[in-house]
Amino acid sequence: MNYNILKIDIADKIAVVTIDRPEALNALNSEFFKEMDDIIANISADKDVRVMIITGMGKAFVAGADIAEMIDMTPEQGTSFSKLGQNVFRSLEKMEIPVIAAINGFALGGGLELAMGCDFRIASSKAKFGQPEVNLGMIPGYAGTQRLSRLVGLADALYMLTTGEMIGAQDALRIGLVQKVVEPEQLMDEIKKIAGTIASKGPTAVRKVKYVTRKGILSTFDEGCDLESEYFGSQFKAEGEVGMRAFLEKRKPDW
Ligand code: HXC
Repeated sequence: MNYNILKIDIADKIAVVTIDRPEALNALNSEFFKEMDDIIANISADKDVRVMIITGMGKAFVAGADIAEMIDMTPEQGTSFSKLGQNVFRSLEKMEIPVIAAINGFALGGGLELAMGCDFRIASSKAKFGQPEVNLGMIPGYAGTQRLSRLVGLADALYMLTTGEMIGAQDALRIGLVQKVVEPEQLMDEIKKIAGTIASKGPTAVRKVKYVTRKGILSTFDEGCDLESEYFGSQFKAEGEVGMRAFLEKRKPDW
């Protein structure tokens, strides 16, 4: 498949996916979702890739779903467009490898929902965050109502969802919406450094720790603990022997 909106660059076991539609502040249209779906499938099949990064070109990460595409939708088409985005962002969570959002600028509406579908978020100090759907007489449709409250708690989520207010990077850090804030010119270097750290760890361990953590948060505590014990045990033969032996022999493991 040829990509018009997304650019992909794979190096050093890290895939960087850039949304490249700066003239519309990277607004998400149907074509974006087709391309992203295809990229998720391709990267998932490439066992050499250990981390994926998603970022935006220009002054926005993503300024939301494409309002020009949505304006003529019927209610039924609106529901389908919502489901489409929910499914694609859920696929990011279901990817075995960690997915990091590199938030270079505006992350609004569907853009913040995309960022929240990633495993964690690193932001430029100039980034702005918001769920401004109420300004348009709409509500979020890509699971923003569900993920925001789970990530930052009910009151901060409802503050953002009902006021439609944009918050800056430091406030996003304070409420736990992003995990780190860096100067704009250092954003990609810093994220590649973090991705490189992840890529240097036991690759099966990283995949399993994501799976067990994500599965656990949707299960009961006891179910999550059972899954953890099972996967802990299975890691001995998968990679644990190599990693623990390397530690005792004071050398780096060769995974
Ligand atoms: C379509 C968009 C867009 C969007 C910006 N553009 N956001 N086009 N959909 N979400 C376009 C503008 O129309 C403009 O096109 C160009 O990008 C540059 O934007 P400006 O507004 O001129 O830039 P600026 O003055 O810097 O303002 C930046 C901004 C503003 C504050 C981010 O663009 C803005 O408020 N955008 C909308 C944000 C929003 O409401 N997002 C939520 C969408 S609803 P032209 O052709 O004029 O140059 C949503 C629902 C998700 O996301 C769930 C769906 C199921």
